[in-house]
Amino acid sequence: MPKNENDKALFAAAEAVRGKAYAPYSNFHVGAAILADDGKIYAGCNIENASYPVGNCAEPSAIAAMIAGGGKRIQRIYVTGPGVTPVTPCGACRQRIREFADLDVEVISHGVHGTPLVQTLEQLLPHSFGPEFLGR
Ligand code: THU
Repeated sequence: MPKNENDKALFAAAEAVRGKAYAPYSNFHVGAAILADDGKIYAGCNIENASYPVGNCAEPSAIAAMIAGGGKRIQRIYVTGPGVTPVTPCGACRQRIREFADLDVEVISHGVHGTPLVQTLEQLLPHSFGPEFLGR
């Protein structure tokens, strides 16, 4: 189970939204919850599509909720999925998180029946390209 209070709330939010995932093709339901710079938690689930490549991962759904809700930066992000193996963000999602998070932000991956894996964004995406390369 999650260690600190933030993680308990993030885990609960990720699990709640994971229950709403639309994943009829993979049956692999994923939830993501972001603690944003405004102190709020924003959550999202994966949304698949009959045209498989058009499906959305949970992480961009949570990022979309954050931006729409007025949050600007990711301070912590929690990802939950089925089984015991920590569900780590796919390569594309690591880059999406990179847009809105500092490199020392912790990404917690949790297969609900296993032990969470805590990694910094820099560990997940070393030598990465980001907004500052374009002067942002
Ligand atoms: N998936 C996510 O939503 N996030 C991850 O971090 C890993 C994978 C989804 C995409 C797809 O709907 C399903 O899991 C199986 O790949």
